[in-house]
Amino acid sequence: AEKARVLVASNRGPVSYAREEDGSLRARRGGGGLVSGLSAIGAEADSVWVCAALGDGDREAVRRAAGGLLPAEDTGGQRVRMLDIDAEVHSDAYNGIANSVLWFVHHMLYQTPVEPVFDTEFRRQWASYEACNRAFAEALAEEAADGAAVLVQDYHLCLVPGMLRELRPDLLIGHFSHTPWAPPDYFRLLPDDIAAALLNGILGADRAAFLTARWADAFASCCAAVLGPDSLTGTAIGVHGLGADADFLRERAHAPDVEERMTVLRAEIGEGRKAVVRVDRTELSKNIVRGLLAYRRLLDTHPEWREQVVQLAFAYPSRQDLAVYRDYTAAVQRVAEEINSAYGTPGWTPVVLHVKDDFARSLAAYRLADVALVNPIRDGMNLVAKEVPVVSDQGCALVLSREAGAYEELGADAIVVNPYDIEGTAQALHTALSMPAGERAERTKRLAAAATALPPARWFLDQLRALEELQSS
Ligand code: G6P
Repeated sequence: AEKARVLVASNRGPVSYAREEDGSLRARRGGGGLVSGLSAIGAEADSVWVCAALGDGDREAVRRAAGGLLPAEDTGGQRVRMLDIDAEVHSDAYNGIANSVLWFVHHMLYQTPVEPVFDTEFRRQWASYEACNRAFAEALAEEAADGAAVLVQDYHLCLVPGMLRELRPDLLIGHFSHTPWAPPDYFRLLPDDIAAALLNGILGADRAAFLTARWADAFASCCAAVLGPDSLTGTAIGVHGLGADADFLRERAHAPDVEERMTVLRAEIGEGRKAVVRVDRTELSKNIVRGLLAYRRLLDTHPEWREQVVQLAFAYPSRQDLAVYRDYTAAVQRVAEEINSAYGTPGWTPVVLHVKDDFARSLAAYRLADVALVNPIRDGMNLVAKEVPVVSDQGCALVLSREAGAYEELGADAIVVNPYDIEGTAQALHTALSMPAGERAERTKRLAAAATALPPARWFLDQLRALEELQSS
């Protein structure tokens, strides 16, 4: 087979497969900011996207596909090689190491009752993490043409750059983190050998890039603290803040299925009421429960908003193999119900919670929102904060956590909150709901301009160019 000139590697690929009722396999677009950003690879000739099979549907699709290459009609023509890694090994790596340990470290989510436990079970899972990373490195080494550029994505694949470097010294290798990076004092919760292996893995790349300077600086500080001050000399550090895709969003947001959902949402909100909208994966780092508690506090301290406002909360299930995620989803549902039974009236449901994934409905809510609530504890970027102002119909006030990467670009025109501060977030909701229409529209315009400064296609190309420039310099 022909070798690729440009390669990306990510745990989640551009499509995943699910079994339909009639027994057929259906391909669906993968979720999350990483997949949105990487779709721009489609424009590159001679490219391949290497990803892992994530469920039974995926595994079946791979087994039918020659050489693990998915059928072009499922991927919009993109060459995608999906790796059929042993299900248990992959689950140890993905659920055990990547999502229960590395995600928690970078989002600083460890707190009672979820404490770090680095025992023999962790060591067993770590061996699986190494094996998964090895499977990616070997597939990339096989697929890559001489001197090709390889862009390795995220915390699932920290060891790949180092492993690939050994297999193929000719390649140009980049690593990109879509998450925050933990500051050294927190990162060093990890056992010393693991912390060193993760950093050395990434330092196997010619260039390591991040969504904001804050995360890039934290990575550099971790290298200095764990590996010593000279450890960074062989690797360039870059920052690329992924923005929203204005053209795609504006067109998609005016499709008939979005208009239909606006009619439904208008009925759920009710005539003359304001809408506070939030859209997240059901994810501990997104801080959905505190957002609901802040809304509850708003109804207490500003009773004038009762019956006048509805919170639309779309919390799409994520990582449901993990008990902490299932428990968190249950907590979100419980708190929403508590608010509704404490404050609801026959004609008013204060919180409308939807848990079934529906992108058209998210866009419909973005268009209608008076206030968008984006209050993560920590977030690499947060694309919702960037998408809302782009498609908003009449202007939308943005309540934004200072701990989201998007804060660096949007902070000036948002109402900024400390995500732990429920009282402060309640007050911010009041300020946002009270903002005069003219000011709201003005701020939304500026937010949209800042949010679209680096659309996905440029975000991707800039990284590729920066990597290629390293070689020529
Ligand atoms: C975040 C991560 C991505 C991940 C996405 C969805 O954005 O940085 O790597 O793909 O969440 O999570 P999932 O576990 O469903 O792939």
